[in-house]
Amino acid sequence: MASGARPLTPSRLGGGERGRRPFQWRGGTSRLALIVGLTLANVGCVRGCTSSKPPIHLNPNMDSQPKAKPQAESAFFYDGATMRQPVAGTIARGELHEDVAFFEGKDAAGQLLAKSPVEATPAVLARGAERFDIYCAPCHDRRGDGKGVLASRGVPTTSMHADKVLTALDGHIFNVISNGQGLMPAYKWPIPPADRWAIVAHVRALQQQRRAEAEGAAQ
Ligand code: HEC
Repeated sequence: MASGARPLTPSRLGGGERGRRPFQWRGGTSRLALIVGLTLANVGCVRGCTSSKPPIHLNPNMDSQPKAKPQAESAFFYDGATMRQPVAGTIARGELHEDVAFFEGKDAAGQLLAKSPVEATPAVLARGAERFDIYCAPCHDRRGDGKGVLASRGVPTTSMHADKVLTALDGHIFNVISNGQGLMPAYKWPIPPADRWAIVAHVRALQQQRRAEAEGAAQ
C-alpha cells in the first residue's frame, strides 16, 4: 500500500453513514469564492459587451491550425513557394482542348483556318456584336474603323476594313484576338473561344455591311 494512503474504513466507503453527507467541499471557502467570482466575471460579459481583446476560447479545436495561405512563402518546399504546380502533363477536367480548329483556329496540319468552324447564326452574330462592343470597340470603334482611344492618342490602330483584314483568314483574326499582335494585347483570358469566334463572325458582318454601304453609295 502506498504511503499516506489510509486504510478503507466503513465510513470512507460510505457504509453506515450513507446519505448523511452526499457531497463534501474540501477546497476551502476562499477557493470556492474565487471560482464563483471568476465564473461571474466571465458570464457577466458574455453578451452585449464589446471588447478589443480576443474572445475567450475555451475549446479552440481546429480553429488555429498550421496551414498555408495562397501566395505565401514556404520554408518547406525547395522553390520557396507554398502553392504547388499541377503535376506536369495533367489536364483539368474540361480542359482537354482536342478540337484544335475550335480552340486554336488551326487545322490538323497547324495551318490557320480559312473559315470559322462556328456557324454564323443570328444568335452567334448577336453575341459577337455585343462582345465586340465590349472588348474591341474601345480601340477599333464600334464600326471597326480603328478610331478608338488609342488612335485619339496617336497610336495607329488597324481598321477592320483595311485590305489586310478583309483578305485575312478567319483563323488569323481568331489568332490575333487570342494572342494579340504588335501593340494589341491578347484577349485569350477574358474572351472564351466560342465568343472569339462570335467576334470573328461580327467582324465579317461589319465588313459585309460596309461593302453593301459602298455599293449602295456607288449606285
Ligand atoms: C487596347 C486596344 C485594342 C483592343 C482592345 C483591340 N485591339 Fe485589335 N489592334 C489594336 C492595335 C493597336 C492594332 C495594330 C497592331 C499592330 O500591328 O501593332 C490592332 C490590330 C488588330 C487587327 C489586325 C491584325 C493584323 O493582321 O495586322 C485585328 C484583326 C484586330 N486588331 C482585331 C481586334 C479584335 C477583334 C478585338 C476585340 C477582341 C481587338 N482587336 C481589340 C488595338 C486593340
